[in-house]
Amino acid sequence: MKILFLNGPNLNLLGQREPDVYGRTTLAEIEAKVRERAKKLGAEIEFRQSNLEGELVAWIQQAKGEFDVIVLNAAAYTHTSIALRDAIVATEVPTIEIHLSNIHAREEFRHKSVIAPVCRGQIVGFGANSYILAVEASINVNAS
Ligand code: DQA
Repeated sequence: MKILFLNGPNLNLLGQREPDVYGRTTLAEIEAKVRERAKKLGAEIEFRQSNLEGELVAWIQQAKGEFDVIVLNAAAYTHTSIALRDAIVATEVPTIEIHLSNIHAREEFRHKSVIAPVCRGQIVGFGANSYILAVEASINVNAS
């Protein structure tokens, strides 16, 4: 089981960025926790971040045949990017949408996810733990 974690814009600033919303855990610390959990469950992890939409699109496209699951925190692109949505459909790799914050409990413009309809499911609102839950969800992605 190979899982590709992709993180979108501004997530490189986790730890210092709006800590009341996103917590104080850095992306590197989240990656370490994910690796630890994945190792216990026998999964292999690749963990990446980009502030560029096109780079995220390219990584999603390249995941075909390389990864069993994509876990995607598309950050602000969640709400706008038809390009990411089309890439998810094109790659045919099961994709799980995640967010640290509960996007449905925030500003109205965050309630809409243009990628949600083409993802297997959505994990939101558990802070850094959303990433750990995504490891569990990935292992079981084809179970139901
Ligand atoms: C986020 C939620 C998005 O609305 C926001 O633009 C982010 C982070 C989250 O993980 O809670 O950058 O994806």
